[in-house]
Amino acid sequence: MSGFYENLLKVMVYVLPSYVANATPVVAVKIIGRSTPIDRGLHAWDGRRLFGDGKTVEGLLSGIFAGTIIGILIYYLAPLNVFRGLSEPLLLSVGAMGGDIFGSFVKRRLGMERGKPLPILDQLGFLIFSLLFSISIYGVPEWLSIDVFLILLLITFILHITTNMFAYLIKLKDKPY
Ligand code: CTP
Ligand code: MG
Repeated sequence: MSGFYENLLKVMVYVLPSYVANATPVVAVKIIGRSTPIDRGLHAWDGRRLFGDGKTVEGLLSGIFAGTIIGILIYYLAPLNVFRGLSEPLLLSVGAMGGDIFGSFVKRRLGMERGKPLPILDQLGFLIFSLLFSISIYGVPEWLSIDVFLILLLITFILHITTNMFAYLIKLKDKPY
């Protein structure tokens, strides 16, 4: 059983770049004070925005930057060696941002306005993409079993909801989800 908890700890450290990348844009866009939509206002074939105003260049770059920096710090400072190379935090961060943008793309195609909630995709899309990006290059980490993965999904789902609620309470976000 100790192996399970050790692997759970490893996966939580492993996905920190994804979490940080996903959370950073909300704060960064507030600090930077300007935002440039990634889709530049472009509309898709269905007449709706490609991604919408919630996906910005500033958010994208700040997320990739912060997630990668955290991962590099972990790589050099943490005793658990979860990353198999310096580029893994970058892959996780780019994947997280890509998954988030893909989620908005899907939401717009479903006719959902920016900021409307789409449960599961909102909470887990970024994580799934993040893992797919890193795993496609480095393979599945030997400590990542299916039970650890399922618990990770559950923890991420709950954390995403509670942290967004918190961000709303401290007025970082204008919607609680
Ligand atoms: N954000 C950003 N750039 C990104 C991702 C997020 O600027 N690439 C910022 C936006 O200010 C966004 C906020 O983080 O409003 C919260 O992100 P999210 O909940 O993913 O966006 P929503 O506004 O809910 O838009 P969508 O419906 O497209 O998910
Ligand atoms: Mg949202």
